[in-house]
Amino acid sequence: MILAVRPPAAFPPLRAARFFMLRRLDSLSPEIPRPFSLYRQVGDELQFLIKVMGRGTRALAATQPGESLRLIGPLGNGWPTLTPGSVPWVMLGGGIGSAPFFELIRQARAGMDGGAPVPADQLTFLYGGAHAGFLYDIEAFEALGVRVVACTDDGSRGFRGNVLQALEAEWDAGRLPREVRLLACGPERMLEATGKLAAARGLECWLSLESLMGCGVGICNGCPVATRPDGPLGAWTNAKCCVEGPVFEGRAIDLEAPV
Ligand SMILES: Cc1cc2nc3c(=O)[nH]c(=O)nc-3n(C[C@H](O)[C@H](O)[C@H](O)COP(=O)(O)OP(=O)(O)OC[C@H]3O[C@@H](n4cnc5c(N)ncnc54)[C@H](O)[C@@H]3O)c2cc1C
Ligand code: FES
Repeated sequence: MILAVRPPAAFPPLRAARFFMLRRLDSLSPEIPRPFSLYRQVGDELQFLIKVMGRGTRALAATQPGESLRLIGPLGNGWPTLTPGSVPWVMLGGGIGSAPFFELIRQARAGMDGGAPVPADQLTFLYGGAHAGFLYDIEAFEALGVRVVACTDDGSRGFRGNVLQALEAEWDAGRLPREVRLLACGPERMLEATGKLAAARGLECWLSLESLMGCGVGICNGCPVATRPDGPLGAWTNAKCCVEGPVFEGRAIDLEAPV
C-alpha cells in the first residue's frame, strides 16, 4: 500500500533512502514507531510504500484519509550521490526493498546535488520478489524510463531467479559491463550475498539495511551492525544503523558477524 502523509511544513527535497519513524496516534499502533524509507516526495506530500508485516504496519494500513499520524524524521544518511560516468549504476531491490530506489532514480535522472544528470542507460534496476505480486508498484518504476528487470523466484514475471542471478545473466549476455557500481536494499541474506559478490569482484557497493529499530535516533542501541576494522568506519566494532546508516558501503560492515 502507498501511504501519503502531509507534514505540517513542507520539507526541502530529501535524499533517497532517508527514512521516517511512523505510527498512528492511537493504541492500534505499538508504542514504538516503525521505520519506513521515503518512497516518493510529491510537492509537500511524503509517500511511503508499505508492506504489511505485523501490528505496526497493519495499524498504518488502517489509516483513513484525514487522520493524523506521528512522523519523526527525516532520519539516516541516504544513498550516495549518483554521478554519470563510464561505470554504470546497478540497483538491486528485493521485495519492499525497492522503496528507497524510486526517488534515487528520479534524483539521478535530474542530477543530484546540482551535478550532471545520469543518463538513463547508465541506470539499471533489478527488481526481485518471490512472485509477481511482490514486485510492488513495478509499473511506476518502469515509467521512470530506466531499464527495469523483473526477477521472480517462480518465473511468474520476467527473469526466473533472484536479483544476483539476474545480474550474472546480464553480465553473461553482455548487457552490462563487468564493472558496475552496486546499490542494494532487501532481505539481509540478499545484502550479505551482494556484499560478498562486490568484494570478490572488486566492485563499489552500497547496502541499505532494513534492521529492526527502536528509537531511530541513536539512543536505544537497538540497531547495531558489525563494522570491519579495516573498513572506512575504522576501529568502531559496531555502527548504529539509524544514524550511521541505513546506507553503508559494503566494505564498511560485516553482516555475518555477531553484534
Ligand atoms: C531504514 C528502514 C527502512 C524501511 N523501509 C521500509 C519501507 O519503505 N516499507 C516497508 O514496508 N518496510 C520498511 N522497513 C521495514 C519496516 O520497518 C518493518 O516491516 C516494520 O517495522 C514491521 O513492523 P510491524 O509492527 O508491522 O511488524 P512486527 O510485528 O514488528 O514484525 C512482524 C514480522 O516481521 C518481521 N520484521 C519486522 N521488521 C523487519 C525487518 N526490518 N526486516 C525483516 N523482517 C522484519 C518480524 O521479525 C516479525 O516476524 C524499513 C526498515 C528500516 C530499518
Ligand atoms: S534504533 Fe535506537 S539506536 Fe538505532
